[in-house]
Amino acid sequence: MNAITAPGTLTPPSHDSAAIDLAGIGIEIFAQIEALAALSEDGPKLTRIFLSPEHRQANDRMMGWMRAAGMTARVDAIGNVVGRYEGDHPGAPVLLLGSHLDTVRDAGKYDGMLGVVSAIACVAALNRARKRLSFAIEVIGFGDEEGVRFGTTMLGSRAVAGSFTDDLLERTDHTGKTLADGLIAFGLDPQTIGDAARSRNDILAYLELHIEQGPVLETKGAPVGCVTSIAGASRFEVDISGRAGHAGTVPMSARNDALAAAAECIIAIERRCASEPGLVGTVGQLTVAPGAINVIPRHVRFTIDIRAPDDAQRLRAIRDLESEISFIRATRKVGIDIRLIHELKATPCAPWLMKQIGDAITAEGLPRIDLPSGAGHDGMAMIDVADIGMIFVRCAGGVSHSPAESITIDDAEVGARVLMNVIRNFTPGKTP
Ligand code: GLV
Ligand code: MN
Ligand code: MN
Repeated sequence: MNAITAPGTLTPPSHDSAAIDLAGIGIEIFAQIEALAALSEDGPKLTRIFLSPEHRQANDRMMGWMRAAGMTARVDAIGNVVGRYEGDHPGAPVLLLGSHLDTVRDAGKYDGMLGVVSAIACVAALNRARKRLSFAIEVIGFGDEEGVRFGTTMLGSRAVAGSFTDDLLERTDHTGKTLADGLIAFGLDPQTIGDAARSRNDILAYLELHIEQGPVLETKGAPVGCVTSIAGASRFEVDISGRAGHAGTVPMSARNDALAAAAECIIAIERRCASEPGLVGTVGQLTVAPGAINVIPRHVRFTIDIRAPDDAQRLRAIRDLESEISFIRATRKVGIDIRLIHELKATPCAPWLMKQIGDAITAEGLPRIDLPSGAGHDGMAMIDVADIGMIFVRCAGGVSHSPAESITIDDAEVGARVLMNVIRNFTPGKTP
């Protein structure tokens, strides 16, 4: 086999046709998914938050599975779990596989976890066949993708991509603990986060398998698909300040109701985002103060999440909404403060990786379906350090971020087979 030395400078590895036994891989993946789903702060629901005791348990469980699959395993400087399966020569560059181990609140079992356990299952199959490739494989279970705890996403992959900035250490969770406090309580040193960063020279590509979280594959009757790009996203926190008053005595014409103003903003967001295909907007959190049945709301805080496959489209919608919200501020005579809390550009998958994923799908006798991702993924951060590719696996009804999230064992097996095929026939390339 040809030795691989650095991305972009390579001759393709010879294709190896020796059988790798994948029998039962879907069952193996499902057993691990169930075991992970039990690691929750509020079982039988699934909620596993960054740097929590359940995160530690998940990392420990992962390291056990990684070692059993022939990998070395460690926790990196931000709490990601990383397993390494050596190549056929020391110091070989790395094909990085991964996804995230954190969840939203009352989550599904597959979002994130499927990609990590499928990658481990593929390495375990290679290890059983005593097969080494001309590159090393590393599997990463990112500690934070969802951003539930500190309100900003992809802390795990941003640290690996080298785009983590120290100001993030001061972000607080709902109890007032900072990210720095959380890292220390987890046994990590906030000053060493830079050690988690990887170099582009060392990584051949980042490849992630994930459930689709949408309905396209199911509609097309396809178990897997090849992702073309990941939609860009902007998130805002909005504070509206009105005037509290007695619900029975203040005439309607004399009110500055913060909640009524928020309601107008929310409808404006829905209307604007429904006006163009691809654009989506969501208000997912809202708090009202003082929150009494007989008091006119004085203050409302809500969040806005706006996404689009095209960055210009997203930015146009944001500009329009800012001016609509200014109009609402003036007409309702309330204070409105809007803060951008998160922004990630739309992220393209590398055509050379899409080709290899497409070939792996057709090698399974399946049609190649290309589709964009509306959901965010760690690849949005990893693009800073590697070309990215994604395999989507069909999920029932397109439902995700819900305990109703589900996939079949057969589809998990097809996803892992495609991933295995990409790994075995992986030919490093680069985006010109
Ligand atoms: C993460 O799952 C997101 O897209 O919000
Ligand atoms: Mn998610
Ligand atoms: Mn996810």
